[in-house]
Amino acid sequence: MNDNNTPNPFKLNPKGPAKSGMPATIWAVGGGKGGIGKSFISSSIAICLARMGKSVTLVDLDLGSANLHTCLGLKIPQQTLSDFISGRAQHISQVSAATEIPGLNFISGFNDALNIADLDRDNKQRLIRALRTIQTPYVILDLGAGTSENTLDFFLAADQKIIAVTPEPTSIENAYRFMKSSFYRKLRLAESELGIQNLIETAMDSKNQLGIKSPADLIRHISETNPQAGARLNDKIADFNMQLLLNQVRTRQDIELGHSMKSVCKKYFGIESDYVGYIDHDNAVWQSLRKRRPLVIEYPYSSIVGQFLGITKNLLNPTTLRAVI
Ligand SMILES: Nc1ncnc2c1ncn2[C@@H]1O[C@H](COP(=O)(O)OP(=O)(O)OP(=O)(O)O)[C@@H](O)[C@H]1O
Ligand SMILES: [Mg+2]
Repeated sequence: MNDNNTPNPFKLNPKGPAKSGMPATIWAVGGGKGGIGKSFISSSIAICLARMGKSVTLVDLDLGSANLHTCLGLKIPQQTLSDFISGRAQHISQVSAATEIPGLNFISGFNDALNIADLDRDNKQRLIRALRTIQTPYVILDLGAGTSENTLDFFLAADQKIIAVTPEPTSIENAYRFMKSSFYRKLRLAESELGIQNLIETAMDSKNQLGIKSPADLIRHISETNPQAGARLNDKIADFNMQLLLNQVRTRQDIELGHSMKSVCKKYFGIESDYVGYIDHDNAVWQSLRKRRPLVIEYPYSSIVGQFLGITKNLLNPTTLRAVI
C-alpha cells in the first residue's frame, strides 16, 4: 500500500450537496454472503462519487446489524432510519446527516431493536418511495447479508444492482443464490401482470416436474408454451441487469472469475450482467477500519483507490461498461 503523504488527488466539492429536484439514482450493494466487504465497498464508492464532485447519500439498510458509520469513522448519528420508520421523522431528509466529506451525506440504519425482516410492507414501500426523494442525485444502499424479501426488494428498487463477491466458493455460491432469488422475486412482484403465477411457484421448487432448473429454463418454457406471456416476461426483464464486483482479489485467476460469472449469469439467467471491476485484497483495509479512517481518505494514492475510482466511473457510464474490462 503506497501512501506518500502528498496532497489528496481528489477535487473537493466546496459547494456541498446540491439539490437536484430530480428523482435520485439508486445504486445498491448486495451479494448474499456476510463479511465479504459490502459495507466497505458501498462506503468507498460513495466517497469516490463525492470526491468526483457528485452529491451522494449513503444509506445503511443492514437494519439489525448496521455498522456503516464505523466504515466512515463516524459516531452513530442522533437521528436514524428508525426515526423515519416509526414516524418520529416525517421526511427522510430529517434523518440524513452531512459528513465532513464534502458532498457526502449519511443515513444510519442503527437501532438494535429494528431488524430488516421486521419492516412491514407499508413501511418498506414508504421507505423505497422516500429513497427516491432524497435530494442528492446519487443514493447508495448498503444491504445486509442473506436473501430476505425486504433485502431483495431494496436491491430490486435500485437502478444499479451491484453484486459483491469474493473469489471463494461460499461467496460465489451465495452470490448466485442472491441473483436467482432477486430474479424470481422480481417476477413474483409482477406475476399477476405477467399471468404466470403458478409457473413461478413451480420454478422455485427445484424438484419441479417441468424440469425448470434455472431462470433461463423458466423463460424458455413460458416463451414456448405461451408466446404472449413470454413476450411480456422478456419486456419485464429487459432492464434487469446486475453489476458484478469482485472483492479481495489475490491472483490473475481471481480476476478472471468475474468474466466467467458473467457468462454463467447469461447462460443461467438468460440476461446480461456487467463485470464492473475488482478490488485487491489488502491489509490496509482492516488497518484503516481499525483507525476509523475510510481507506479512500487515508490512502488516496493507493492502487485500491484507483480500482474504486475505475469502478465508480464504470457505474456512472453503464453503456461503456462492456468495453472496459
Ligand atoms: N479488499 C479487501 N481486502 C482486505 N480485507 C477486506 C477487503 N474488503 C473487506 N475486507 C475485510 O472484510 C471484513 C468485512 O467487511 P464488511 O464489513 O465491509 O463486509 P460486509 O459484507 O458488509 O459484512 P456484513 O454482511 O456483516 O455486513 C472487514 O473486516 C474488512 O476489513
Ligand atoms: Mg455490512
